[in-house]
Amino acid sequence: MNDSHLLLSIAVLGGTGKEGKGLAYRWARAGYHVRVGSRSAEKAVIAANEIREMLGEGISIEGMSNAEAAKDANIVVLTVPYSAHRETLESVKADLQGKILIDVTVPLVPPKVATVQMPAAGSAAQEAREILGEGVQVCAAFQNIGYDHLLDNSEVECDVLVTGTSKEARAEAIKLVQAAGLKGWDAGPLENSVVVEGMTSILIGINKKYGSTHAGIKITGASQ
Ligand SMILES: NC(=O)c1ccc[n+]([C@@H]2O[C@H](COP(=O)([O-])OP(=O)(O)OC[C@H]3O[C@@H](n4cnc5c(N)ncnc54)[C@H](OP(=O)(O)O)[C@@H]3O)[C@@H](O)[C@H]2O)c1
Repeated sequence: MNDSHLLLSIAVLGGTGKEGKGLAYRWARAGYHVRVGSRSAEKAVIAANEIREMLGEGISIEGMSNAEAAKDANIVVLTVPYSAHRETLESVKADLQGKILIDVTVPLVPPKVATVQMPAAGSAAQEAREILGEGVQVCAAFQNIGYDHLLDNSEVECDVLVTGTSKEARAEAIKLVQAAGLKGWDAGPLENSVVVEGMTSILIGINKKYGSTHAGIKITGASQ
């Protein structure tokens, strides 16, 4: 990875939650400037301080409102439940223009979370694209990565399929996948996110059926 990427700041909206906090931890560990976002700035500061305590003073991480976090970040990552997806995106739409959004959202509809239930737009990431308009490059990534090993330093046995609205945006997202200690694959246009988001329900079902917590996927027969 080119070191100039470490100058980028990454906002993690909903970064107080399970998946977002784990990703924020991994990117802070890699040396990025991380902005943890929340509906409550106070809650975000607590989450950022917890990560600093885990990693030590040398890291660059701050907590603030989602709007503040999105405003001055270079890349914005969305990690909120699907029920909060539209509302959160609409609240930061203006601040995202000209940037890359990495959408981690899976459109789970409780209680049938092990059943694939896609929204009318095709996928959550395509819905994000509709909400944000053409001024934002949207990628979808990390949907198959369970949160439970992100906050420790274990190897995560799951690859990351990255879809997105341009090759360039996907390449930027893959750099963040690698910085998080994971293997990323360019999985093509944003329309393909339907498969990746849907795969999460299948993995949740496998976890339930076989008593595991972190079933994952790996690309075989190809190398990079
Ligand atoms: N958990 C996983 O293993 C995992 C794996 C892959 C993908 N994902 C996807 O990642 C996303 C986040 O999952 P998670 O497990 O991290 O969720 P979570 O912990 O339940 O929630 C994440 C954050 O979203 C914000 N939030 C919750 N309800 C909200 C609402 N009604 N309106 C606005 N913000 C709200 C909260 O932040 P504030 O209260 O601080 O605003 C919360 O800390 C989901 O779409 C999920 O499908 C999760």
